[in-house]
Amino acid sequence: MATFEQFTDILGRRRRFGHNLPDDRDILDKLREEHDLVKELLGKLVESENVAERLWLAQQVKAALVPHVRAEEKVVYDAVLALRDTDAMVDGHEGYLEHHHADLALKKLLSIKPATGPEFSAAAKVLKQLVEHHIDGEERNVWRDIRQHFDAEERVEMHRAFEAAKKRVRVPH
Ligand SMILES: [Fe+2]
Ligand SMILES: [Fe+2]
Repeated sequence: MATFEQFTDILGRRRRFGHNLPDDRDILDKLREEHDLVKELLGKLVESENVAERLWLAQQVKAALVPHVRAEEKVVYDAVLALRDTDAMVDGHEGYLEHHHADLALKKLLSIKPATGPEFSAAAKVLKQLVEHHIDGEERNVWRDIRQHFDAEERVEMHRAFEAAKKRVRVPH
């Protein structure tokens, strides 16, 4: 079971990533950090057997995942879809579909009571598998498209747009 210090450490890093770093960063570096954080949270969620901890972690996953995917769709996937390159467009559409599946799996997870039961454990495992599979494909395929079509300066601009888009996302309760 993760300690309270580990939780506050995760939360602190999320806050630092979100608000305190300068804007002039490559979008892909930022996405990698957020992917790593979500994977870490999901790993802890699947391991956890404590109900308060599970609920806290599930909320942290939601808070990290929802703004990330919505802003990524607007800034990254829409840019890839606009390239009018068939392979890149497949990658963009695939990303949208997988985000939709992750949304549904997250919604299901958050609706399950009690959070101590086997149904919650199963939903946490499914969400973790979906997100890990999605991140693997995204980092391989979408990032290749981004590196191929956008130079370093454009990727810094994308990071600024990504941060601005995240601020506009409303995370549902
Ligand atoms: Fe992502
Ligand atoms: Fe994604």
